Amino acid sequence: MQHKIAPSILSADFGQLERDIQMINQSQADWFHVDVMDGVFVPNISFGFPVMQTLKQHAQKPLDVHLMIVDPDRYITRFAEYGTAVLTVHIEACTHLHRTLQAIKAAGMKAGVAVNPHTNVNQLSDVLGDLDLVCLMSVNPGFGGQSFIENTYRKIEQLKTMQAQQGVSFEIEIDGGVTLSNYKRLIDTGATVLVAGNTVFSAASPSDTIAQLKQ
Ligand code: DX5
Ligand code: ZN
Repeated sequence: MQHKIAPSILSADFGQLERDIQMINQSQADWFHVDVMDGVFVPNISFGFPVMQTLKQHAQKPLDVHLMIVDPDRYITRFAEYGTAVLTVHIEACTHLHRTLQAIKAAGMKAGVAVNPHTNVNQLSDVLGDLDLVCLMSVNPGFGGQSFIENTYRKIEQLKTMQAQQGVSFEIEIDGGVTLSNYKRLIDTGATVLVAGNTVFSAASPSDTIAQLKQ
């Protein structure tokens, strides 16, 4: 199966958000990656429901929403109402992760879990069969445009071993520092979804860059 590209609208021009959404609609991108930050779980505040409303109106591809917020259970149904396809919560923000994953699925969305660079993927072992996606943070969450953390390759390999051992499958998404220099090795190692913010939106031609990342 060909890998997916999910441009992160965190790096879009919010003065021209509809233009950037249309660029993604017309590109070879597969999903919209939507980074919601609360200023508590991460040291930055991004955007919330008004931007979700704009995406709901204009985005023509699945919304891959990455919640970098504490206590995400409070907002699961709201994100479903805005048309979220995949809702990803952080393992570090969930006291009752199993319950949270069930609630996401009960609201009609696919369930994802993100793990910070310091978190061992073994911690997902007992919920692996409940997951549609694991998001490996390849930077510390909070900001676009950071440098890729090399240990991520090892975590992809660990996840693949766990998948084989348990006979389960889910998307392996890489989030942070994805570039035209490292995307091929990420795919070869086993990544199935690549998020790209800075690499896409700082390019002279964002849609050509998306096409390159698809190759
Ligand atoms: C970081 C976000 C990422 C970010 C990726 O906290 O979760 O999705 O937008 O940005 P780049 O691709 O610029 O590293
Ligand atoms: Zn993200």
